[in-house]
Amino acid sequence: MKILIATEKPFAPVAVGQMREIIEDAGIRLSILEKYSSKAELINEIIDADAVIIRSDIIDEEVLDAAKNLKLVVRAGAGYDNIDLKAATKDGIVAMNTPGQNANAVAELVFGMLVMMARNVFDGTTGTELKNKTLGLHAYGNVSRNVARIAKGFGMKVYAYDPFLSEEQIKSEDVIPVSTLEDLYKQCQYVSLHIPATPQTIKSINYDLLSLMPKGATLINTARKEIIDEESLKKLMEERADFTYISDIKPDNASEFIDKFSGRVFFTPKKMGAQTKEANINAGLAAAHQCVDFLKKGIDKFRVN
Ligand code: 3PG
Repeated sequence: MKILIATEKPFAPVAVGQMREIIEDAGIRLSILEKYSSKAELINEIIDADAVIIRSDIIDEEVLDAAKNLKLVVRAGAGYDNIDLKAATKDGIVAMNTPGQNANAVAELVFGMLVMMARNVFDGTTGTELKNKTLGLHAYGNVSRNVARIAKGFGMKVYAYDPFLSEEQIKSEDVIPVSTLEDLYKQCQYVSLHIPATPQTIKSINYDLLSLMPKGATLINTARKEIIDEESLKKLMEERADFTYISDIKPDNASEFIDKFSGRVFFTPKKMGAQTKEANINAGLAAAHQCVDFLKKGIDKFRVN
């Protein structure tokens, strides 16, 4: 039996070492493919794997069809839009994620970037504080819960919109529920995006919604670039010199945004929300345990297809 760790963006070595122990202690062979640069390399390694652990690596129909022994794909992380779930189901392959395991890392990056931009990238000029500002959480899942916890420490007033949760559930965590998305954007100077990329959400963050935000607005995206309607964000930022956009996932036209809106945009060079030693250990170990439990005992908790 073989488990493959296929990570274009590798886990920290300490996480890989501990994943190896879990897998080899279960009598399963481990194969590792890191920093690969072509789909052919991935296919070459996945071809005889029984399970694969990935991050944002693309597992499309061609890869799945080539992996004749494959029974399980575990996305060590939250979002699984990089797996072709329809093709996996067609081939009888189970897909899982590891919800919550990297949530704190992403939430801490939200604040790292918010403070940096509120202080003008530490250029010595007068900045602003987060205290007493309004923060809107667009969706209230694992990352949002951590963002809310940290935001309260900063003295921010935290609002959340989540159509899948009741007002009571949100209120019980000391966060102010908002009943419409439009109200969230109207009320909050800061909006932090925490929705997955799905056919319903792709390009849903558009001009109409963003133009509701008050003066001095900041939108922060640590979710997915696909949820932003880039053209309409550009139009809005051309019209509103008070609008700031921060993202952990570069837009397609990143250089145009940087040229046009200097000082009002910031993009990490590579998605790094989950790129901490702790998150790598949390998500990597959870993924390794899920693989072993599935291959040895058929446990399919966290299945997403
Ligand atoms: C996730 O969905 O868990 C995050 O986007 C992290 O992605 P990464 O594992 O590629 O850093």
